[in-house]
Amino acid sequence: MLYLGIDLGTTFSLASYINAANQVALVPDRFDANSFRTPSVVHIGNGGCFVGDAVEARLLEDPTTPHTRFVKLAMGENQSFPDHQQRPWRPEAISALVLKKLLDDTRSFLPDDIAGAVVTVPANFSDQQRQATKQAALLAGLPRVTLIEEPIAAATFYGVNDISGDQTLFVFDLGGGTFDATLLQAADDGLFVLATDGQHDLGGKTVDEAIMQQIADEYERLHDADPREDPTALVQMRQFATEAKLELCRPGVSQVRKTLLLNRRSVDFLLTVAQFNRLVDKLVDQALTVCERCLQAGGMDWDFVDHILLTGGSSLLPLVREKLAERTGRPKDGLLLKQPHQAVAFGAALIANQLFNERAEQKQLQRATAWQLGIRVAGADGQPCVKVMIDKNQPVPASKTVTFHTNREGQPRMVIEIVQQKAPQEDEKSLGYFIFSLPESAPSKYAVEITLAYDMEGLVTATARNPQTGQQLKQVMDENGAALDDELVRQKEWVDHTRVNDA
Ligand SMILES: Nc1ncnc2c1ncn2[C@@H]1O[C@H](COP(=O)(O)OP(=O)(O)OP(=O)(O)O)[C@@H](O)[C@H]1O
Ligand SMILES: [Mg+2]
Repeated sequence: MLYLGIDLGTTFSLASYINAANQVALVPDRFDANSFRTPSVVHIGNGGCFVGDAVEARLLEDPTTPHTRFVKLAMGENQSFPDHQQRPWRPEAISALVLKKLLDDTRSFLPDDIAGAVVTVPANFSDQQRQATKQAALLAGLPRVTLIEEPIAAATFYGVNDISGDQTLFVFDLGGGTFDATLLQAADDGLFVLATDGQHDLGGKTVDEAIMQQIADEYERLHDADPREDPTALVQMRQFATEAKLELCRPGVSQVRKTLLLNRRSVDFLLTVAQFNRLVDKLVDQALTVCERCLQAGGMDWDFVDHILLTGGSSLLPLVREKLAERTGRPKDGLLLKQPHQAVAFGAALIANQLFNERAEQKQLQRATAWQLGIRVAGADGQPCVKVMIDKNQPVPASKTVTFHTNREGQPRMVIEIVQQKAPQEDEKSLGYFIFSLPESAPSKYAVEITLAYDMEGLVTATARNPQTGQQLKQVMDENGAALDDELVRQKEWVDHTRVNDA
């Protein structure tokens, strides 16, 4: 039986497993035994569907190749990506194609049946983003799936090799598209999350786009036009920006110079390491602010942290280590940076093996809520406001019941809107409404008990109960959510009928 750990990343996705020597390993690409990371990019066209390196190769040859990238940032959003037949693919379905590619690779490489998988999500993913990820797994036909937060997976991987006894860990996870900061306690019997925080849309993509902005500014100065309006130029600029970034991160490199031909007009581009670091500086400052908020929520400061683990490809930016070392007052080599590209996938495989394999040693894993959860109510001044029922950074599973009262006599129903919030002052995200009917001629101030709960995967359930009659309505935002709605049932057909990388 095979239990997979899958890192479904913004820029790269990986599948990991435990090999016969009882070590974590990555599944190679079906057509390239030296490739272990799949670029999270999808092309659907007349010639078929391609995922990963096959699309990157086509894009190098022909930048006009239609493709979808960064779909992780659209998960849980009401967005779609049209294919060549104008079929609107939802983010879940595009992600399912990436998963399908990883499953094809796995099946062609390993003989065992895939019996379960742990798929990782950023710690700061909302309920909707988590649900969408679960649905992507369902669309891809993965049998049993559990979601785990990326920093927990990374800490699990590090913990197995590098840490023993009771220790406080801080995971700094700067990937392609998202940033997570997590404070954990590691003990011999397991891992316990003390606090978690994060920022959406902060990662390598942010740096690439800052470089693209510089190119665009120079181009605009010369030619009085924004090159990004041309889709081909946009692809070329992104490729160049990523390459330039990686080049500038190499030791000894002091500048990158290139003449780019964009939309038939040329632009000379020069970026020095000093200029580059000024771009990266802002990103690192934002990440450090998130870290300190996280420490504060856990009631600690850097001095209490035994190990700082860096993970995610963008933690290889030299300035990240420099500034983090400076801020935390420790030497650069006091920061743990080991296989930052693979740590999340490896940790996920370790967790999958513990979770699904009854014979494996079971370690405790205490996770925490990343969002506060509540319902929208009318405030004292009649304006809607959020009544928080479960705070952020509470151990999961978590559940809370509060009795609410109707406003007026004969009110036929109570409309309950469930919302998540990062912090009290931040915008709330609505998870949806549900309607609870009340008996006819119910008096004013009629009581309704509302229970909100987080399950182990950070998914939300809401229950309304009439204590007078015992009538109850449960809105399982996960269980029914994980069942596919009509639109996704249709898209499952598309996914099922789409062969990936099968030219
Ligand atoms: N040596 C390096 N120096 C700087 N950046 C790097 C380096 N290697 C990779 N990156 C960047 O790291 C990012 C990819 O990291 P990673 O694979 O951890 O992200 P991801 O898992 O796809 O994203 P996320 O975790 O946000 O969903 C890309 O933006 C890539 O350009
Ligand atoms: Mg990642």
